[in-house]
Amino acid sequence: MRQIQAEIITWYRAHKRPLPWRETKNPYFIWLSEIILQQTRVDQGMAYYYKFIERFPSIFDLAQASEQDVLNLWQGLGYYSRARNLHRTAQQIVEAYQGTFPTSYEGLLSLKGIGPYTAAAIASFAFDLPHAVLDGNVFRVLSRINNWSVPINSTQGKKDFERLANEFLDQQNPGLFNQAMMEFGALHCKPTQAHCSVCPISIHCLAFQSKTVEQLPVKLKKQSARKRYLVFEIMQPSSGKIFIEKREQKDIWQHLYQFPLKEFNSQEEKSHYLNNTAHSFESKEYKHVLSHQHLMCHFIVRLPTESDMGEVIQMDEIQDYPIPRAIERFLDDYGLDIFHSRAR
Ligand code: ADE
Repeated sequence: MRQIQAEIITWYRAHKRPLPWRETKNPYFIWLSEIILQQTRVDQGMAYYYKFIERFPSIFDLAQASEQDVLNLWQGLGYYSRARNLHRTAQQIVEAYQGTFPTSYEGLLSLKGIGPYTAAAIASFAFDLPHAVLDGNVFRVLSRINNWSVPINSTQGKKDFERLANEFLDQQNPGLFNQAMMEFGALHCKPTQAHCSVCPISIHCLAFQSKTVEQLPVKLKKQSARKRYLVFEIMQPSSGKIFIEKREQKDIWQHLYQFPLKEFNSQEEKSHYLNNTAHSFESKEYKHVLSHQHLMCHFIVRLPTESDMGEVIQMDEIQDYPIPRAIERFLDDYGLDIFHSRAR
């Protein structure tokens, strides 16, 4: 085990990417980076990381911001509950801890919105405490070294891997070792086409010996996603204006804004509605995949009727509102011009 640890750290020193959150011990910056990286890849995450630390250089700045400012900065990453939790956790740390992060794993874990992964990341990267981080990369590396086929998302698997990861952790250099494991999984021990032929630990790797590298890790299939059929309706109550509405219900996209929406229970009902509703524009279908739901979205432009309602805004003001990623994709493709040229 010592030898494997040393090899992975040596590999890391030679191959690591220079990433800004690795140059700091500031728990606030480390926390921000981890929340962003739970939502996107390193290359895109970097831009968001810089945007956030520039706009909110301290946890006080983040805590004092309005929720809408935070959501606007998060725009493009999707899954806005992460951004709302980020904001609330900042407020909690300011109110209950005078803006100082708890310096123990348990203290971190007690915060709303910080789970085992994030607590271990902050504890090890900022405070060099011996807590193993377990992300997808680490699961993969460990499952291969040990040739374990217990599913990583089963109850038993989570328990087993958590124990293994902590046994495996380099207790002298937990922060460094955690980064090294993640990077080794991301760049070297990849899901497919792992670099086994040049791997410094292949002689210790049980999956390599058993030729099971490509089959690992094993994951249980999730139950299939709920499908939802959506039609967003773009309407001009008067020239240059559109309706938007804020989503208040406890559902996806809480507190985000949208064009007035009709939802249907099946593809057939939605098609029937589209075929029988006069409209001057119809987008292609946007299939938007969330973790437990698949959204089939259309966007149409139609005339408002007496019963249509919403907040009335100037068309281009939509840029100032936090909107779901699915709507953003539509606006990226069609722009605001469709309103000008087609809506009337
Ligand atoms: N993904 C999640 N956390 C990361 C980190 N600290 N460095 C690189 N990639 C990551």
